[in-house]
Amino acid sequence: MENNRGSWNSKLGLVIASAASAVGLGNLWRFPYLTAKDGGGAFLLAYLLITVFVGATLVITEVALGIKTRKNPVGAYGSINPKFKFLGVMNVITTSIILPYYSVVGGWILAYLAKAHLFNNMKDYKAGFLNLITADYEPLVYFLIFIVLTAVIVFFGVQKGIERFCKFILPALLFLLIVMMCRALTLDKAIEGVKFFFVPDFSKFDARTCLDAMGQVFFSISVGMGIYITYGSYLQDDGQKCIGKVIWPVVTADTVVSLLTGLTIFPAVFALGIEMTSGTGLVFITFPKIFGTIYLGTIFSYVFFAIFFFAAITSAVSLMEVAISFLIDNLKMSRKKAVWIDFIYCVVIGSISSLSFGKLGGFTIAGKNFFDQLDFLASNILLPLSGFLTSIFVGWVLGPEKLQVFTNLKQQKMFEFCIKWVAPIATLILFVDCVK
Ligand code: PFF
Repeated sequence: MENNRGSWNSKLGLVIASAASAVGLGNLWRFPYLTAKDGGGAFLLAYLLITVFVGATLVITEVALGIKTRKNPVGAYGSINPKFKFLGVMNVITTSIILPYYSVVGGWILAYLAKAHLFNNMKDYKAGFLNLITADYEPLVYFLIFIVLTAVIVFFGVQKGIERFCKFILPALLFLLIVMMCRALTLDKAIEGVKFFFVPDFSKFDARTCLDAMGQVFFSISVGMGIYITYGSYLQDDGQKCIGKVIWPVVTADTVVSLLTGLTIFPAVFALGIEMTSGTGLVFITFPKIFGTIYLGTIFSYVFFAIFFFAAITSAVSLMEVAISFLIDNLKMSRKKAVWIDFIYCVVIGSISSLSFGKLGGFTIAGKNFFDQLDFLASNILLPLSGFLTSIFVGWVLGPEKLQVFTNLKQQKMFEFCIKWVAPIATLILFVDCVK
């Protein structure tokens, strides 16, 4: 039975919903772009090491805090040490900043899904993308559809909404991604792309590569936002001792999706001799160009943007659930009321973000449009800062031995070392680099 605040049907619910939260725009859009910029295999190597030693450590920590306290981030930090309640508040603020503009990108994806049949007749892919994001109403309408869908899933609750939806979407996403990868790998000269992805080019390997990899791990694995505290708090039985086992599938799923994406985009880009455009453009410009070129491209366009949509919406759901759990637990609201309030907030902030590239382009804060400013604040300041403070909190204030997450002594000691030393040092370096 689900209680008032909600609970998973089983441990599998926690694993699947967490993995679905981690798999998102970070894997499909940001990962390939950074890999291309930072020397292929060299970036991949740094990314994998940081995932294991920093990313996984923070995921384990957050889930453990959720399971131990069974509270949302504000309640979780506050109940262990009232002085650290602000860290939970920071988590709620961070996810509330990210969700509206993340949903705007979700809307662009929906628009591309609706227009996938037009790709093989498009003349200028870049102009096509710019026309969409600068239009007066179109991005706004798609954003509204995306945020309504997100709110509906969250409205149905932890078990009936989030768990049921993610159990269906995540396997579908993996299946479709494997289909896409097979298509890309069977193109002529695909092997060149595979080599680029796996063979490290150490001439491009420097401190920047490591910092980019670290930022990417944070973004991709969804740490520093209290998502895993919230999801962990919905576990019914005492999962404290099996956190290690619960968490590896999450970290593995996130990494595997990034690898599958790399094994799709690089072979396709190399085989077709298409130039890699950077940033947002990689997905919205390079991919449609690829689909416009290959046999049965229209079908693959639908498949690709469907994958993208699935990945984005399950992450958006997790971002929304952090604020909802706070409103339910701390302000004693019903789920229905909490979802309505958060939804209205997202519509207002998201609409302004959505119009940042068009009508409201002239509205800037410190030289950045509204959308970019939200992204900068969340990704460059709040995420690394919160990762740093979380590791200090668990490593030095609470004491990692209080979180007995592994039954194996060696693994437990390794976890304690990582949360005390590796995670704080790494996150501090990242934070200093981001704000400088
Ligand atoms: N980890 C998810 C992704 O890779 O898209 C969700 C997410 C991470 C959303 C970071 C937003 C964010 F800033």
